[in-house]
Amino acid sequence: MAFDLSSIFVITTFAISFLNLAPIHMVVLAKTPCQFPAIFNFGDSNSDTGGLSAAFGQAPPPNGISYFGSPAGRYCDGRLVIDFIAESLGLPYLSAFLDSVGTNFSHGANFATAASTIRPQNITLNRGGFSPISLNVQFYEFNDFHKRSQVVRKRGGVFETLMPKEEHFSSALYTFDIGQNDLTPVTSQTCRRTKLKPTFPMCLISSRLYFRLNIYSQGGRYFWIHNTGPVGCLPYIMDRIPVLASQIDEHGCATPFNDVARFFNQGLKKTVERLRKDLVDAAITYVDVYSLKYSLISQGRKHGFKQPLRSCCGHGGKYNYNKNLGCGAKVNKHGKEMLVGAACKDPSSAVIWDGIHFTQAANKYIFEGIVDGSFSDPPTPLNMACYRN
Ligand SMILES: *[C@@H]1O[C@H](CO)[C@@H](O)[C@H](O)[C@H]1NC(C)=O
Ligand SMILES: *[C@@H]1O[C@H](CO)[C@@H](O)[C@H](O)[C@H]1NC(C)=O
Repeated sequence: MAFDLSSIFVITTFAISFLNLAPIHMVVLAKTPCQFPAIFNFGDSNSDTGGLSAAFGQAPPPNGISYFGSPAGRYCDGRLVIDFIAESLGLPYLSAFLDSVGTNFSHGANFATAASTIRPQNITLNRGGFSPISLNVQFYEFNDFHKRSQVVRKRGGVFETLMPKEEHFSSALYTFDIGQNDLTPVTSQTCRRTKLKPTFPMCLISSRLYFRLNIYSQGGRYFWIHNTGPVGCLPYIMDRIPVLASQIDEHGCATPFNDVARFFNQGLKKTVERLRKDLVDAAITYVDVYSLKYSLISQGRKHGFKQPLRSCCGHGGKYNYNKNLGCGAKVNKHGKEMLVGAACKDPSSAVIWDGIHFTQAANKYIFEGIVDGSFSDPPTPLNMACYRN
């Protein structure tokens, strides 16, 4: 083939002029959305997709009724915020690490269990009311998972399709939603606000240490951290722990408990700021789910929700909540056995599912609020959470 110098000249000129344009293009083009290949989640019932159910018995029907059709390890009629997060990132729903049946960890794992705390628990679930899988235990599990998943993956075949690739650990999104149970003593009066306050920094500091020593040192860089919600608006708190009438706000929530939640959130936000300084390559997004959850209660009617403080799946009382007859329990009514929650016909118009947890409809509302970054600090949308501002 003849070698045509003039065409090389044309191509080169074209390439140069293109290169000259390149910086302008780069300014105009927005950053490309992050491609998270996996999610690793840590938390409590707000994001438990089957952990507590695997170890302590399945959440009973009618949990799962609105979406999965049967109980699916979630204390909800359907999907949780973490499920909507996975969906929107194009990833499968997270399998619970503790679940040994039918799990697939190729795109992440969920270490959250319902009733988990940040503080380590020293007593059993039955005695203390809290999950033994506190945040530090979830980190132990994560370490173990990271190492062993790679050993198992090397067996090839089906094992390779069930475990995440090693490189997923550094490009995954690490999500957190924990703290609510550190503020809500199940055993009534033992933890008053004044007694609780001084212990917060301790648990925040220890979780910060774990964060730095564990996940970051194992390559994790992208963190999405939810603050804690207005527990003072949840029936299980208002029903069990009496507060003075003067401590009930205009929307019917118990102010002292919401104060504690906000105090915790201030501490969490400061911790995140310090972490950003410590972990120079990490992108850490703090997400204010408190405000969205509170707006569901205070403005719920505007968004099509009825009786925002009343639980849908429950039994009797002011909030349709009875701690001894929880969602899915059996009651005897006029000689007939009835399921608590059978009367909850339209969870899609309720905010509170079972007195403790939010409905799928509420979770969707929360997800839609956080996904574009309007409740984040920095204001990072979910699909941009791999960029450090
Ligand atoms: C568990 O025991 C440790 C060590 O004694 C203590 O620091 C911690 O506060 C205890 N945790 C709880 C929830 O009581
Ligand atoms: C696990 O999930 C991935 C992604 O959804 C899929 O490609 C793979 O085939 C699954 N493995 C098994 C054994 O089902």
